[in-house]
Amino acid sequence: MSPFEPPTVTMPESRPLPRIGRHTLPNRVVLAPMAGVTDRPFRALCRRLGAGLVVGEMVTSDPSLWHTRKSRLRMDHHGEPGPRAVQIAGGDARMLAEAARLNAEMGAEIIDINMGCPAKKVCNKAAGSALLRDEALVAEILEAVVAAVAVPVTLKIRTGWCAESNNGVRVARLAEDAGIQALAVHGRHRQQRYGGQAEYDTIAAIKAAVDIPVFANGDIDSAEKARRVLDYTGADAVMIGRGAQGNPWIFREIDHHLRHGRPLPPPDDDERARVLRGHLVALHDFYGEHMGVRIARKHLGWYLAGDARFDDTGRRALRATFNGLDSADAQCHFIDELFRHEPDMAPSRVAQAMTPDGTCAA
Ligand SMILES: Cc1cc2nc3c(=O)[nH]c(=O)nc-3n(C[C@H](O)[C@H](O)[C@H](O)COP(=O)(O)O)c2cc1C
Repeated sequence: MSPFEPPTVTMPESRPLPRIGRHTLPNRVVLAPMAGVTDRPFRALCRRLGAGLVVGEMVTSDPSLWHTRKSRLRMDHHGEPGPRAVQIAGGDARMLAEAARLNAEMGAEIIDINMGCPAKKVCNKAAGSALLRDEALVAEILEAVVAAVAVPVTLKIRTGWCAESNNGVRVARLAEDAGIQALAVHGRHRQQRYGGQAEYDTIAAIKAAVDIPVFANGDIDSAEKARRVLDYTGADAVMIGRGAQGNPWIFREIDHHLRHGRPLPPPDDDERARVLRGHLVALHDFYGEHMGVRIARKHLGWYLAGDARFDDTGRRALRATFNGLDSADAQCHFIDELFRHEPDMAPSRVAQAMTPDGTCAA
């Protein structure tokens, strides 16, 4: 059976839910850490819509950089329900251990180590997935971090460094031996970056090789695919990244499908409008108007990408109008207009309904 085959009727999942230390997850659907995406407003939204665990954006292991506004916002977990999972990135075992200790002191309930990120900025410093090349260093880092904190430590990896060195199974065994309590595996090696398709054979091999919970990650963008990947790999949960951008409903859809073996209807337009507007307001509140308005633009682009009412030309026109709006009020009015003209909505009508300063003319 391949995860790419058409969906079959499957029985609801009967295995115990995954545990990370003392935390039993409420379901099998996890939000992947994504720098620039999984900020506090997005995590709160995904959790509300069914994510069983959310992981924050990676934080550098160098505490001398934590004073910047960007780092402070990344590290802000104020008011979030537990367990709070904080991901750290770096290449030096002592520094990572100290970063883990400080984050645990500040309230992190799970420390996640990033050995999956292919970004140059991270990898030039031999961090992220570049670490997978050096298994001795991997072991040193994992042991140091686990020894430094009382909270559970998890690890996120790729299947390996390159096609010839898919050492994911060896790294997974190292991780289990070092006391790592759950492992997320993105089904691509580092050299693939985000190209090609994720493969799930290595994830299945990793799951078979270790006893700790394994989260399957990569290209899972629907409830049916989540079910198939879990069946194929035997993984304990799926981890969703890009599939949640503009589609935070994916968590409850996957959870429902796994529990009941049938799809949940997609959100109606009323709910889409409420969620989108609420998300934008949360961004404006969290970042302040100037920065929040800019960050909202990329999220709107993702929401529009999944909105079947528009074709590509319509989406482009709507994005252009939205990107020209410079205030929180104007962005909220735009959302109201976007859904007001249903069912004969045309992108030009939204644009026409906005005055040049972005307020609502209607
Ligand atoms: C914009 C973006 C930012 C990301 N940032 C991180 C990160 O901070 N830490 C990390 O471990 N992985 C990061 N990733 C990788 C994702 O967690 C995930 O492994 C990858 O996107 C594959 O899953 P997907 O196909 O569900 O998106 C990032 C991915 C994207 C697209």
